[in-house]
Amino acid sequence: MRVTLAITGASGAQYGLRLLEVLLSNGHQVYLMVSKAAHVVIATETTWQLPARPAELEAELVKRFAIDPSLLHVFGREQWMAPVASGSGAPSAMVICPCSTGTLSAIATGACNNLIERAADVALKERRKLIVVPRESPYSAIHLENMLKITNMGGVILPASPGFYHQPEHVSDLVDFIVARILNQLGIEQQLLPRWGEQFS
Ligand SMILES: Cc1cc2nc3c(=O)[nH]c(=O)nc-3n(C[C@H](O)[C@H](O)[C@H](O)COP(=O)(O)O)c2cc1C
Repeated sequence: MRVTLAITGASGAQYGLRLLEVLLSNGHQVYLMVSKAAHVVIATETTWQLPARPAELEAELVKRFAIDPSLLHVFGREQWMAPVASGSGAPSAMVICPCSTGTLSAIATGACNNLIERAADVALKERRKLIVVPRESPYSAIHLENMLKITNMGGVILPASPGFYHQPEHVSDLVDFIVARILNQLGIEQQLLPRWGEQFS
């Protein structure tokens, strides 16, 4: 499968990076965008030192995940000729993980001021799968209204709110809970977390 993944500047960079790792290591092709703020969050929340320039970021991630270079394409914030900027080139699914409230607002209003916002707009107009993983606490009425708007337009709001019924022992278990939920939404088989009821069968 080919998936567009945008990592924006909400807390929870690990969700997006783990999703990227799982997709790539299972042979899925990823069109990746990382916002400027996401780079700051990644540097704050992880030990990863990721270059800002798309080509360098792509090379670094290909090396880090030891993957076939054809699986990953990284696009810059104003790379309007990228496939994700048009309905004729964009993959059938896009995930924004984590999604800042700023990007949430831009999607709800169709702002299209950068490639992430444009790609989300394309996903909605083409009636393709758009999975948005917001992270903020508490939510304001603006955030909630924007989430409702996106839901009414066909997007899926999948908040970064992990459950605890799988008895997590490590932070990575909580991260994998959300990543598994995203993969389920994408229709991609995953072994990170049993589906509800499976652990009793
Ligand atoms: C360490 C750090 C954590 C942040 N956490 C959040 C957050 O959880 N949710 C959020 O909506 N914004 C958060 N922000 C603020 C966003 O990064 C900021 O609003 C930014 O403009 C979002 O831009 P983007 O949507 O282009 O990534 C955080 C910023 C930093 C530096």
